[in-house]
Amino acid sequence: MIVTIDGPAGAGKSSIARQVADRLGFEFLDTGAMYRAVTLGAIWNNIDFQDVDALVAYVRSVNLKWHKNRISLNDTDVTNEIRTPTVTGAIHVLADLAEVRAQLSQQQRRIAEGRDIVTEGRDQGTEVFPDAECKIFLTASPQERAVRRQQQLAAAGRNVPIEDVIVSQNRRDEEDRSRPIGSLRPADDAVLLHSDGMTPDEVLQKALDIIAAAAETA
Ligand code: DC
Repeated sequence: MIVTIDGPAGAGKSSIARQVADRLGFEFLDTGAMYRAVTLGAIWNNIDFQDVDALVAYVRSVNLKWHKNRISLNDTDVTNEIRTPTVTGAIHVLADLAEVRAQLSQQQRRIAEGRDIVTEGRDQGTEVFPDAECKIFLTASPQERAVRRQQQLAAAGRNVPIEDVIVSQNRRDEEDRSRPIGSLRPADDAVLLHSDGMTPDEVLQKALDIIAAAAETA
């Protein structure tokens, strides 16, 4: 069974997808980590971000592995290195390229082959797994997402004013929604889960209920 969880940055997709996978004994796939890893690799290799051919050739050449919730690039574990503001700010260049998306989507399908999996990202229910048995679009208001993000940053020792969090969140939302292919949008058959005012446990329970209902009809 394939469960897709798409939604904007800061909606809590990773944490919910991971917990759902744990509860159900499914694999978990964080597709954002794949876009992050190839972006980091392109930066490390000093590839010119204006040079589309070089970026595409690089993504085709790398060996990306997702194993036990960790990501490696040419056999170097980059799970921690991919979550920096520099990487986050540059991802849209690669994520906008059709060839890069095709390459990563193919790998995502290969990872899911023959498995029960919860996969999260932006285009999982729309482009990568249009036939998934269960599709969830997890979202929350911009204000609530920004407050959660600010709390996460504070817990990591970075005190960022809410206005700054909102500015970068708005920029990412715009980039994610306006992407020519694989843009952020709910699939027609996705169930919308709006988490404003819900505790993390309530969101988890709701997601499990949605999956149970889908499994019954699948
Ligand atoms: O989920 P995340 O914040 O780690 O994702 C980082 C970026 O990667 C996101 O802003 C857009 C891109 N992405 C994408 O284009 N398609 C996906 N399936 C997942 C992520």
